[in-house]
Amino acid sequence: MPKVTIKTDNKTIEVAQGYAMIDLCEDHDTSILFGCRDGACGACMIRVLEGAENLSPIRDDERDFLETMAAEPNERLACQCKVLGDVKIEVSE
Ligand code: FES
Repeated sequence: MPKVTIKTDNKTIEVAQGYAMIDLCEDHDTSILFGCRDGACGACMIRVLEGAENLSPIRDDERDFLETMAAEPNERLACQCKVLGDVKIEVSE
Protein backbone atom coordinates (compact mmCIF):
# COMPACT_ATOMS: atom_id res chain seq x y z
CA MET A 1 0.00 0.00 0.00
CA PRO A 2 1.26 3.51 -0.74
CA LYS A 3 2.73 5.48 2.13
CA VAL A 4 2.09 9.18 2.54
CA THR A 5 4.60 11.01 4.73
CA ILE A 6 3.45 14.40 5.97
CA LYS A 7 6.64 16.10 7.12
CA THR A 8 4.77 18.95 8.78
CA ASP A 9 3.04 16.52 11.14
CA ASN A 10 5.86 13.96 11.33
CA LYS A 11 3.36 11.26 10.28
CA THR A 12 3.49 8.43 7.78
CA ILE A 13 0.15 6.95 6.79
CA GLU A 14 -0.56 3.92 4.62
CA VAL A 15 -3.55 4.18 2.32
CA ALA A 16 -5.15 2.18 -0.45
CA GLN A 17 -3.97 3.08 -3.93
CA GLY A 18 -6.19 5.76 -5.42
CA TYR A 19 -7.23 7.10 -2.02
CA ALA A 20 -8.10 10.79 -2.06
CA MET A 21 -5.63 13.00 -0.19
CA ILE A 22 -8.50 15.00 1.30
CA ASP A 23 -9.99 11.84 2.84
CA LEU A 24 -6.60 10.78 4.20
CA CYS A 25 -6.12 14.19 5.83
CA GLU A 26 -9.54 14.12 7.42
CA ASP A 27 -9.12 10.54 8.63
CA HIS A 28 -5.80 11.31 10.32
CA ASP A 29 -6.12 14.84 11.68
CA THR A 30 -3.30 16.47 9.71
CA SER A 31 -2.22 20.11 9.47
CA ILE A 32 -3.41 20.40 5.89
CA LEU A 33 -6.43 22.69 5.86
CA PHE A 34 -9.29 22.60 3.41
CA GLY A 35 -11.78 25.24 2.35
CA CYS A 36 -13.72 24.89 -0.88
CA ARG A 37 -12.66 21.25 -1.50
CA ASP A 38 -12.97 22.02 -5.18
CA GLY A 39 -9.64 23.46 -6.29
CA ALA A 40 -10.76 27.07 -6.07
CA CYS A 41 -9.47 28.57 -2.80
CA GLY A 42 -5.86 27.42 -2.34
CA ALA A 43 -6.25 26.60 1.37
CA CYS A 44 -5.00 23.06 0.83
CA MET A 45 -1.77 23.87 -0.99
CA ILE A 46 0.98 21.36 -0.31
CA ARG A 47 4.60 21.08 -1.35
CA VAL A 48 5.57 17.69 -2.75
CA LEU A 49 9.04 16.79 -1.47
CA GLU A 50 9.30 13.30 -2.96
CA GLY A 51 7.19 11.13 -5.23
CA ALA A 52 5.35 13.77 -7.26
CA GLU A 53 4.91 11.13 -9.95
CA ASN A 54 2.92 9.08 -7.44
CA LEU A 55 0.09 11.60 -7.23
CA SER A 56 -2.75 11.69 -9.74
CA PRO A 57 -1.77 13.82 -12.76
CA ILE A 58 -2.48 17.52 -12.54
CA ARG A 59 -5.54 18.60 -14.49
CA ASP A 60 -5.91 21.80 -16.47
CA ASP A 61 -8.10 23.55 -13.91
CA GLU A 62 -5.67 22.80 -11.07
CA ARG A 63 -2.71 23.92 -13.20
CA ASP A 64 -4.50 27.15 -14.11
CA PHE A 65 -5.27 27.86 -10.46
CA LEU A 66 -1.69 27.15 -9.33
CA GLU A 67 -0.38 29.48 -12.04
CA THR A 68 -2.71 32.19 -10.80
CA MET A 69 -1.34 31.69 -7.28
CA ALA A 70 2.26 31.84 -8.59
CA ALA A 71 2.82 28.42 -7.03
CA GLU A 72 6.17 26.68 -7.21
CA PRO A 73 6.49 23.72 -9.61
CA ASN A 74 6.34 21.21 -6.76
CA GLU A 75 3.15 22.58 -5.24
CA ARG A 76 -0.24 20.94 -5.61
CA LEU A 77 -3.74 21.30 -4.26
CA ALA A 78 -4.30 18.44 -1.83
CA CYS A 79 -8.04 18.41 -2.54
CA GLN A 80 -7.28 17.50 -6.15
CA CYS A 81 -4.77 14.70 -5.50
CA LYS A 82 -5.22 10.97 -5.31
CA VAL A 83 -2.44 8.82 -3.90
CA LEU A 84 -1.00 6.33 -6.39
CA GLY A 85 2.29 5.50 -4.65
CA ASP A 86 4.70 6.65 -1.96
CA VAL A 87 4.85 10.41 -1.53
CA LYS A 88 6.31 12.90 0.93
CA ILE A 89 4.62 16.24 1.38
CA GLU A 90 4.54 19.28 3.64
CA VAL A 91 2.14 22.15 4.10
CA SER A 92 3.00 25.09 1.84
CA GLU A 93 3.59 28.31 3.76
S1 FES B 1 -9.71 23.14 -0.54
FE1 FES B 1 -9.90 24.87 -1.81
S2 FES B 1 -8.37 24.51 -3.31
FE2 FES B 1 -8.32 22.69 -2.13
